[in-house]
Amino acid sequence: MTKKIAVLPGDGIGPEIITEALKVLYFLNTDMNLGLEFEHGLIGGCAYDVYGTPFPETTLALAKAADAILFGAVGGVKWESLDIALRPEKGLLGLRSELQLFANLRPAKLFPQLAHASTLKPEVVAGLDIMIVRELTGGIYFGQPRGIRLLANNERQGFNTLVYSESEIERIAHCAFKIAQQRQSKLCSVDKANVLESTELWREVMITVSHHYPDVQLSHLYVDNAAMQLVRAPTQFDVIVTTNMFGDILSDTAAMLTGSIGMLPSASLDANNKGMYEPIHGSAPDIAGKGIANPLATILSAAMLLRYSLAMLPAAERIEQAVASVLDAHLRTQDIYSEGMQKVSTQAMGDAVLAQLQKGE
Ligand code: IPM
Ligand code: MG
Repeated sequence: MTKKIAVLPGDGIGPEIITEALKVLYFLNTDMNLGLEFEHGLIGGCAYDVYGTPFPETTLALAKAADAILFGAVGGVKWESLDIALRPEKGLLGLRSELQLFANLRPAKLFPQLAHASTLKPEVVAGLDIMIVRELTGGIYFGQPRGIRLLANNERQGFNTLVYSESEIERIAHCAFKIAQQRQSKLCSVDKANVLESTELWREVMITVSHHYPDVQLSHLYVDNAAMQLVRAPTQFDVIVTTNMFGDILSDTAAMLTGSIGMLPSASLDANNKGMYEPIHGSAPDIAGKGIANPLATILSAAMLLRYSLAMLPAAERIEQAVASVLDAHLRTQDIYSEGMQKVSTQAMGDAVLAQLQKGE
């Protein structure tokens, strides 16, 4: 049976890193007879340039029809002055919301080979393996009302709404507890229940849902403390579950613990494990076109795609092992480079992963 993959490279370094991930997927598709079919679409700034919208109907249709989506990155200086509704990020947010990809899995796992690339001491990050489960289709990102309004005194006022309904919290809670069960069975829910009612409810629902998972140890942290703990003693965490905006912020922090945000993949899943897979980093317009971006986060996102949406575990594992092997061979893009290593381009890194796979390792 064929499986359709929608490929949305997007803007900035998106196309460069997707090219490398596709090299890997094309090879495994043939080598392991996976039956994958690929179809490309436009999203973000490049879609705006062609269609006048960052999220064209054709792209939505392509994504809906696909079994999984491989996504690069969106955004760039060129589109920054557009109305917020037309900015590239709306393409990404639209996709998340239209496909109800409410569960965003953001693993922050340290490759031991990169312990010295972290800005934290190697002994602080040694063994780091955190899974951040970020709620992705609710909260302040989507809450209504929102906008910029004119007050009676002619002053402008910006406003957004942080809302969470019980059912939204419940479904992300179940997802996080299930993931914790497959790991170290420790779940930390992050909120701001001391100030925000929406997250007071968040905490309450987390506790209620926890009764279905007596084997999982649930703890709670306020987001400010969680941010501090993440850089103080990050290995205390197994799974973290949190709101859309807190997850956005904490996942960037967690990413840096691993040495480079250029290493980390992510999955955004709906209730049936259909998903969109993307590197955690953005479009990095400052380095786009220079051939220096790290393609490993995207290559590892392709591995997550095979694992979570297509249940092709052996193929996923082959990719992950190939990535570990190129790191063992001391190949480094500039973001993870340190003395004594061999600095390579985006393309050379992709080629090296491919060569590992061709060796049958
Ligand atoms: C992310 C990004 C997005 C977000 C932006 C590009 C809209 O920062 O995926 O973390 O805020 O969710
Ligand atoms: Mg972010």
